[in-house]
Amino acid sequence: MKSLSDIKKIVKEKYGQIAKTSAQCGGGSCGCNSNMTVQKQSGEMGYSEDEMTAVPDGSNLGLGCGNPTAIASLKEGEIVLDLGSGAGFDAFLAAKKVGPTGKVIGVDMTTRCWKKPEKMLKKVVLRT
Ligand SMILES: C[S@@+](CC[C@H](N)C(=O)[O-])C[C@H]1O[C@@H](n2cnc3c(N)ncnc32)[C@H](O)[C@@H]1O
Repeated sequence: MKSLSDIKKIVKEKYGQIAKTSAQCGGGSCGCNSNMTVQKQSGEMGYSEDEMTAVPDGSNLGLGCGNPTAIASLKEGEIVLDLGSGAGFDAFLAAKKVGPTGKVIGVDMTTRCWKKPEKMLKKVVLRT
């Protein structure tokens, strides 16, 4: 039987690999298989085309097991904690809903995942 630290290492490696090559689903966690595009997988989870194009390129890794911002009834000014935020797909969508008076905190244990939104945020901030 594998130890908890072995399991954590495997999970980190797997998600790190997906973050590196995100254009096509790379055997993601929920129904995303190698023959499916990220867009198609997210569409099946209920994300609209508008949502998928509103986020920075590369933030959607096609890993979602649901569509949390569709059911969370987020309001302006709220604070959102996204545990396992990946490259920030849901966090960027949540940020639009809570607006400038709100806050979104993304937490992810896979370094390669959170390095992506960090770079994207710099671009988004520079553009606004
Ligand atoms: C199914 S993915 C979801 C990513 C994101 N919400 C999305 O839709 O693109 C799960 C994420 O949780 C992270 N994760 C798994 N276990 C974790 C833990 N114990 N602490 C922090 N992050 C974790 C993984 O690195 C991965 O990025």
